Amino acid sequence: MARVTTMEELFLDEIRDLYDAEKQLMDALPEMADAASSADLRSAFEEHLEQTGIQMKRLERIFAVLGEKATGKKSHAMNALIREGSEIASASGDPAVRDAGLIAAAQKVQHYGISSYGSARAHAEILGDDRGARLLSETLFEEKEADERLTELADSVIDEEAAHPPNNGRPKTRGAGGSDRRD
Ligand SMILES: [Fe+2]
Repeated sequence: MARVTTMEELFLDEIRDLYDAEKQLMDALPEMADAASSADLRSAFEEHLEQTGIQMKRLERIFAVLGEKATGKKSHAMNALIREGSEIASASGDPAVRDAGLIAAAQKVQHYGISSYGSARAHAEILGDDRGARLLSETLFEEKEADERLTELADSVIDEEAAHPPNNGRPKTRGAGGSDRRD
C-alpha cells in the first residue's frame, strides 16, 4: 500500500492513479470507437485516444521532475467505469440507443478525469510545483472540452433517434436497454 504521510506522497499516489487510468483508457477506447455507429462519435473516441497518449506523456514529465519512475498503480475506479462502458459497447439492440449509452459511459470516465486532475493540480499548487500544476491544467482543460463535446453529441444522437424512430413512431413499450436482456 502506498504511504501518504506527506502531501508529496499523496501527490505521487494521485499521479500514479492517473497514469494507470489513462493507460486503461488507451486500451479501452478502440473498442468504444468500434462500437459507435455515429461517425462523429467514432471520431470523438479516436481523437480522444490520441489526446490520451499526449496526456500520458505529460504525466511522464511530472514523474521525471519528481525523480520517480513512471509507473501506475491500479485505478479501481477507472477499471469499473471502463467495464461498464465495455458492457454497453457489446450490447445488442438499437445502434443509436447504444451510442447514447456509450456517451453516458464516456462522460462518467471524463468526470473521473476532471475530478482527479482537478485535485492533483490543487495539490501541485500547494506543493509549489508550478510546472506540474501547469501540465495538469493543460490536461484538465482537454478533459473538460472532451466532456462538452460528448454533451453536444448526446443531443445530436438523441435528435437522430427522434428523426428516425426504429419502430415507425409507435410508442416504445420497453426501456432504452432493449429487449435483449442478459440476466
Ligand atoms: Fe484523459
